[in-house]
Amino acid sequence: MTVTDTERPGRFDAGTPWHLQGNNAPITEELTETNLEIVGAIPSELQGRFFRNGANPQTGVSEHWFIGDGMLHGIELAGGKANWYRNRYVKTPMFANPGADRTELAMDSETFEMDLNVSAANTHVIAHAGRILALEEGAFPYEISPELETIGPFNYDGKLTTSMTAHPKLCPHTGELIFFGYGVLPPYFTYYRVAADGNVMQSTEITMGGPTMIHDFAVSRNHTVIMDLPMVFDLELALQGGMPIRWSDDYQARMGVMPRAGQDVDVKWFDIDPCYVFHTLNAHDDGDEVVMRGCRLEKLWLDTADMVVDEATVDQGARLHEWRFNMKTGAVSDRQLDDAPCEFPRIADADAGTQERYGYVMAQRPQTEGGAVFKYDQANGASKTVHEFGDGKTPGEPVFVAAADAKNSDDGWLMTFVHDAVTDTSALEIIDATDMAAGPVAEIKLPVRVPTGFHGSWIADA
Ligand SMILES: [Fe+2]
Repeated sequence: MTVTDTERPGRFDAGTPWHLQGNNAPITEELTETNLEIVGAIPSELQGRFFRNGANPQTGVSEHWFIGDGMLHGIELAGGKANWYRNRYVKTPMFANPGADRTELAMDSETFEMDLNVSAANTHVIAHAGRILALEEGAFPYEISPELETIGPFNYDGKLTTSMTAHPKLCPHTGELIFFGYGVLPPYFTYYRVAADGNVMQSTEITMGGPTMIHDFAVSRNHTVIMDLPMVFDLELALQGGMPIRWSDDYQARMGVMPRAGQDVDVKWFDIDPCYVFHTLNAHDDGDEVVMRGCRLEKLWLDTADMVVDEATVDQGARLHEWRFNMKTGAVSDRQLDDAPCEFPRIADADAGTQERYGYVMAQRPQTEGGAVFKYDQANGASKTVHEFGDGKTPGEPVFVAAADAKNSDDGWLMTFVHDAVTDTSALEIIDATDMAAGPVAEIKLPVRVPTGFHGSWIADA
């Protein structure tokens, strides 16, 4: 399918799906810009690149917000300067076959095996063991160069035999990358640990309740938390095209906790109240308990898989929530930590797996309101401070970058792309995480619009 510019949906037409409207609309050009306007002062110690991924369908249309060719946006910073902005599609077989049916492209018609090189590679971008990987949960990662050019699919020399989550966890103590792959056919969940040098140390199948959508998980210093939640794969929906996942009232919601290097038999399962969690904030060990925090949805995709956040739907948004799993007694308790809808939770990388003091999230607000980032302080009852971006300005995921001489775990900056609806342009904003009420310390103005996207990383020079 080829869609010409005149056939593309208008960005503000009433009939245009929410996920193709306004700043959710895809852009068409790949650019490299070296002459960037800067307001404020970029901290001179920031040497590296801020990369962010998102779905940007090259045909201009897609059936769901989560579907569409991955496009990376990146900015290189060095010595207080912004050297360049680049945006590049990840060059996958989906990109090479615009509008093709993904299943038809991936499935071998004789063996019915799926080719895991077929990816949109649109969800996250991380660095580990000397590689930069663009991730999506339905396929292999794609390796990317520091200039955002696609190197190709990467499967750990054949040791990755399933898809890979877009939310691996990097252990700041061991340098391990811990992740999983899930599938709609058995094995429903395969757990992996990769050493700091990139060698696969563990690949373990875990028994789940069935084929469910598993977007994220959590890892403490000693334990791994697996989410088995009631978003089930539905073959009928799959045959209709679009999002093949639906809520099920009949599927027992539960969380599994096992030692980090554990096996299937080591998983202790805890039945919990039904919910869905796209993203976890962190997990840590506390005596006999493993504590996990994340953004909890009461329900998801009951009548529609649409994900619009407006005045009517914002109250159904996710809230920061805490679960405590007692490994000795088998008891589980949980509580909501704040009543404000939020998503895209991040912590300081150094706090991963241990009790984080601070968590950062994007406020979920209707686009008619100015956007905000919240900073939660767990040492003070999950109290929050707020950075307001102002009328018409919408941020994305706040990525925390620690200062080199950090004394406290919030010494550093938050980075996020911000869209200004008035000028219809975007900027990378750098915010002092210790002073949330202040304006950005630096704003790198971009000559183009960076569409609403998903996840990103600050990748410091080695
Ligand atoms: Fe995600």
